[in-house]
Amino acid sequence: MSDIDVSGRLAGKVAVVTGAGQTPGPTVGNGKAMAMLFARAGARVLCVDWSSDRAQATVSAIREEGGEAYARVADVSDPDGASIIALTALESFGRIDVLVNNVGIGGTGDGPAKYLTEHAFDRILSVNFKAAWLVIKACLPMMEDRGGSIINISSLASIAGSQMLAYETSKAAMNRMTQSVALSGAKKGVRCNAILPGLMDTPMAIVGMSQRRGISHDALREERAARVPMGHMGTGWDTAHAALFLASDEAKFITGVLLPVDGGQGARVG
Ligand SMILES: NC(=O)c1ccc[n+]([C@@H]2O[C@H](COP(=O)([O-])OP(=O)(O)OC[C@H]3O[C@@H](n4cnc5c(N)ncnc54)[C@H](O)[C@@H]3O)[C@@H](O)[C@H]2O)c1
Repeated sequence: MSDIDVSGRLAGKVAVVTGAGQTPGPTVGNGKAMAMLFARAGARVLCVDWSSDRAQATVSAIREEGGEAYARVADVSDPDGASIIALTALESFGRIDVLVNNVGIGGTGDGPAKYLTEHAFDRILSVNFKAAWLVIKACLPMMEDRGGSIINISSLASIAGSQMLAYETSKAAMNRMTQSVALSGAKKGVRCNAILPGLMDTPMAIVGMSQRRGISHDALREERAARVPMGHMGTGWDTAHAALFLASDEAKFITGVLLPVDGGQGARVG
């Protein structure tokens, strides 16, 4: 839970967050935290997820706090997913001020070059990279009229090897796309930045990975915390506060930035 007062920082704005639900678990995911924080800051939020239950859970959490949010079920990797998202935003709000590409997957079949499967390569690149581009492409026309902020949720793995070839390559491609979109959108008032979360204490990271590696949640948490210079993992709220800054007018001269949110881990890369 974040108790920092953010009220008014996105007043009057419309935000679309993909992957705004979360993997079930005891902590908050990046997408859900961003959707909730944006709503607390005064934005109306379109919560996109391929799971209706997950999208609805985030919407309910926002409404319980008095915020305004709507759920939209869409698969961002489906050929029609991106246009469904753009059309829903157009029909419901007539505009998009903030777009967050948060959907990201990894896992089964990924690994070093020798072990990565072709199926995993295609699936991870398609969901993490191609789908984010399609969503940007579909939403851009609505943002170019009045300016806006696109935020891509990349990963520190894009610059610091994790031996997950497909995942880290998909996120490195997302970084390059971020800067390309920043340059093409600059004169039209569309800013585009990426956040590179490091080791975060989210259910997606802890629950899935502890199952794959056959170790307890606590053992995995300790192992990950020890790798962070600050001595602990980040949370979805840390990602969300960085995203709120990039989404807000406070960042109006900032575009093309790849921002690590990682407790200092990236400083080891240089
Ligand atoms: N947690 C970490 O340690 C960490 C570190 C670095 C980067 N990240 C990045 O953060 C992002 C997400 O984190 P999170 O905590 O919100 O994960 P999460 O799994 O909790 O939430 C992602 C949501 O996306 C939804 N989703 C998955 N595929 C989808 C699709 N094709 N279409 C629509 N929705 C889909 C899922 O249902 C889920 O609700 C990812 O891009 C991930 O790569 C996480």
